[in-house]
Amino acid sequence: MATVLAIETSCDETAAAVVKKRHILSNIVASQIEIHRPYGGVVPEVASRHHVESINDVVSKALSQANIDWLDIDGIAVTCAPGLVGALLVGLTAAKTLVLLHHKPLIGIHHLEGHIHASYLQNPDLVPPFLCLLVSGGHTSLIKVEDCGQYHTLGQTRDDAAGEAFDKVARLLGLGYPGGPAIDHIAKSGNPKAFALPEGKISLPEGGFHPYDSSFSGLKTAVLRLVESLQQEGEDVPVANIAASFQQTVAQGLTRRTIKCALDHGLSTITVGGGVAANSALRQHLLAAAEDKSLQVLFPPLSLCTDNAAMIACAGAEHLDRGHTSPLTLAALSRMPISKVMELYQG
Ligand code: KG4
Ligand code: ZN
Repeated sequence: MATVLAIETSCDETAAAVVKKRHILSNIVASQIEIHRPYGGVVPEVASRHHVESINDVVSKALSQANIDWLDIDGIAVTCAPGLVGALLVGLTAAKTLVLLHHKPLIGIHHLEGHIHASYLQNPDLVPPFLCLLVSGGHTSLIKVEDCGQYHTLGQTRDDAAGEAFDKVARLLGLGYPGGPAIDHIAKSGNPKAFALPEGKISLPEGGFHPYDSSFSGLKTAVLRLVESLQQEGEDVPVANIAASFQQTVAQGLTRRTIKCALDHGLSTITVGGGVAANSALRQHLLAAAEDKSLQVLFPPLSLCTDNAAMIACAGAEHLDRGHTSPLTLAALSRMPISKVMELYQG
């Protein structure tokens, strides 16, 4: 299997990594969290500027830590969609420059395909088909993985992504950015049964509810109304109890849909990807429910759940092994369904 250098700059992490045969040789991430924290979220222009400042250093570190010669690198992978276009362009330009300088093939990678591949780094013997629950700041999807490049989205959010909901609820509870880790932390001292909150089911025109799609905007509004009514009545806002109740509602809803989806589609293995995979309540609920139904759940370590370039390199190596390479005209796209990934490759 190929050895690939990858670059990832789709949001607020400047990352580069070298992966050989599903094994990480180096994995460098320069996080911009502290830079964006005062703004309460990622500022796209600021992210692009910091990617420009960090990219050379991050790539050099990935190469030196991997202790590898350019001759031993078979290709250069880069995240080209979806994401912040200005941020993606920095990584894409760096990757194209290296491709021209070192005469290597270019492999454009869909960011979500990267998150899916994080599970192969943790479990090199993992074989499709399996179900991937992808829960990040920008996405909430249930994806059936048939093979490298072959994905079917079976469920998704109709509005906010799960991580976005964590970030918004944290903001209205005064917990700062990023919200997921802050809620996870304070929820440990709260009662998850303190408040009953709506899970966000999607009604179908023919009656009943969509089995796998989710909605988080109603849940976020319910937390807002709860906080407002407590404040109007002059009561203290029990932040830990609200955080714990919110987190439990999200974890239970995601778990119920994921288990149903896996059982309905005869998939005995579930992998989890994206930053929200770090959430302790989600891990607890999903592991317990899966064990109950004799399903296997694979959670990558935290460093591979959040944005990184090792997952992009892993996806790049899989595609390169199949002869999939991208033209130098490869563009950065803010949106792209994962079902269309094969359009990134020529021939
Ligand atoms: O995958 P990721 O690093 O970036 C995207 O591609 O979006 O995910 C970031 C998201 C943020 O919304 C953050 O609040 C959330 O993951 N997150 C968590 C936790 N750690 C990070 N959400 C819930 N619980 C956590 N422990
Ligand atoms: Zn991501």
